[in-house]
Amino acid sequence: MSPRSILAGIGAYLPERVVTNDELARTVDTTDAWIQERTGIQQRHFAAPHETAAFMGTAAARTALADAGAQPSDVDGIILATSTPDQAFPATALRVQAALGVTKGFGFDIAAACAGFVYALSVADSMIKAGQAKGVLVIGSEVYSRILNWADRGTCVLFGDGAGAVFLRAGEGTGTDQGILSTHIHAQGTLGDILYVDGAVGQPDKPGHLVMHGREVFRHAVSRLAEAVEEALAANNLKAADIDWLVPHQANRRIIDAMGRKLGLSTDRVVITVEQHANTSAASVPLALHQAWTDGRIKRGELVLLEALGGGLVWGSALVRM
Ligand code: ACO
Repeated sequence: MSPRSILAGIGAYLPERVVTNDELARTVDTTDAWIQERTGIQQRHFAAPHETAAFMGTAAARTALADAGAQPSDVDGIILATSTPDQAFPATALRVQAALGVTKGFGFDIAAACAGFVYALSVADSMIKAGQAKGVLVIGSEVYSRILNWADRGTCVLFGDGAGAVFLRAGEGTGTDQGILSTHIHAQGTLGDILYVDGAVGQPDKPGHLVMHGREVFRHAVSRLAEAVEEALAANNLKAADIDWLVPHQANRRIIDAMGRKLGLSTDRVVITVEQHANTSAASVPLALHQAWTDGRIKRGELVLLEALGGGLVWGSALVRM
């Protein structure tokens, strides 16, 4: 029997600086009322210059290891999801590896925008099942404040910075169903122009800013994420009623509510952090998971469905028995 990937520990890091909608409205042509009505967002965290994806990812990884009672020597792989890496290379995962004092194993980054954490979890789970690793840190870490176009009020009010991490440990194959039950990841590159960054280090004179056609993304998000939920349930012979918690990507309160209704889950069974964190892209799912884990809402043995969608278009789900 192949091993199970157990979520042994969960960690997070948020920059110290909190920026409310009212503070943003001093420099951007917007209002607290517009932002809250359209998205549910009340505030976000913005990184200071030293709070890079590697810095925040390292801090989140440390808390995940501590939560698992694990040491850096237990880590034999780091997979870090980010669209805002410190450098083109080395991979941000390797900056984290060095900062943690991990001296063995592998490390690499995954670029799958807001679905990055679910993608990274899927890859890590496959590697654990294949026997290639026994202890893997999966991290989502983002500094979207560095790629926002402050002249575009339709996007710059939506995002925040932060990092979340889980430490996956190969289960002993005891016959229990604890751990990652399934992951499903998808991509449709033909939709690359509805949500993208218009540059990168490989482009002449184009550092890159985020561009989004919000209504188009909204439309695809609702239908693709609904399909992802159906797919996860069908693959595990489960009904929506079996799910204890939905931990969705935190982009927009209206999309989150639509997903909760689809599963027939009352709002108190859906973890929502978009009000406090805004959209932190690849960090949003592990940040939300961490919040509900540390405040005691999510407990061992419960069934948790994670889902996310991002620029690419990319989307996916992970079903986990905690
Ligand atoms: N403040 C005030 N007014 C604004 C602002 C703002 N910040 N932004 C836009 N407006 C105005 C527009 O100018 C427009 O005015 P008009 O009617 O006079 O032309 C009006 O508000 C409506 O603008 P829309 O962009 O059509 O607003 P919409 O209702 O579509 O809401 C939103 C925008 C919140 C972005 C929504 O489309 C959305 O949430 N989309 C999905 C985002 C998402 O799910 N992303 C997930 C992945 S993110 C990633 O991968 C990086």
